[in-house]
Amino acid sequence: MRNRHLLIGNWKMNLGPSQAAAFALKLREGLPKTARTDVWVAPPTVSLAPVCAELAGTSIVVGAQNVHWAASGAFTGETSPVFLADLGIAFSLVGHSERRTLFGESSQQVAQRTQGALAAGLTAVVCIGETEGERSAGRTETVLEEQLSPVLESVARDAAGRVVLAYEPVWAIGTGKVAALEEIRQAHRCIESLWARKQFTSSPVILYGGSVNPGNFAEILALPEVDGALVGGASIKVDQWLSLIAIAEESPVARG
Ligand code: PGA
Repeated sequence: MRNRHLLIGNWKMNLGPSQAAAFALKLREGLPKTARTDVWVAPPTVSLAPVCAELAGTSIVVGAQNVHWAASGAFTGETSPVFLADLGIAFSLVGHSERRTLFGESSQQVAQRTQGALAAGLTAVVCIGETEGERSAGRTETVLEEQLSPVLESVARDAAGRVVLAYEPVWAIGTGKVAALEEIRQAHRCIESLWARKQFTSSPVILYGGSVNPGNFAEILALPEVDGALVGGASIKVDQWLSLIAIAEESPVARG
C-alpha cells in the first residue's frame, strides 16, 4: 500500500552497456515530471554503472535483477548486495520466476537473497507466482504461501518497509496472456493475508507482473489491491514504457 504508484521495468538480459546507456538517455529525455508514480528500472548487471551515470540527477531509481546473500566470498558469478549498494543501487529483484525455473533457485535461497539485500540497505522486490499447471490444479494460494513464507520469516520487522512483493503468474510472463482482474485481486488478497500474519508495522506493497502493456495497464492499476506493475517486454520499448508512465499518472492512487 503506497501513496504513489510504482512501476518497475525488468530489462532482463537485454540492453548491454552501450545500448542501455542510449536507452537511459531516451528515458531521461522523455520522462515527464511524475506526480504520483515512482519509476524504477532493473538493467542487466554489466549495464548498471552506465545506466546509473546516465540517470544521475533524475527521479528514476536503478536496481539489479538478482543479488547474492553474502557480502563477499567464493561465490563465482554472483553479485554482492554490498557491492550493489556501493554502486548507488537502490533495489534488487529477487526470486524472479526465470531465476526459479531456469536456474533452480529455491524459495529458501530467495529468502536468503532477500535477507542479504535488506542487510545491505537495499529494497528487495520479491517475485512470486504460480505456473499454469499449479493454477489449474487449484494450488495457486498454496504455492504463494510456499514461496512467500520463508521470505517473510527472514524479514526483520524494521526492514519490512523495504520489501516490495510482485505477484507474477508464470503463465502470464512474456506470453501476452494476462491474468483476469479477479484472479489478480484474489492473489493479491492472499498475499496481503500472508503478510498480515507477520504483524509488520508497514502494510504490504504488491505489484502485478505478466504481459502488462499500455492496452491493459489502466484496468489493472485501477484495482484497489494493486500498487503498480513489474514490466518486462514493454519496459524496453521506450514508447510503451512512457505510455505506461502516462497511464499511471492519470490513474488515481486508490489507497495510501
Ligand atoms: P513481461 O515480463 O512483462 O514481459 O510479461 C514480466 C516480468 O518477467 O517481470
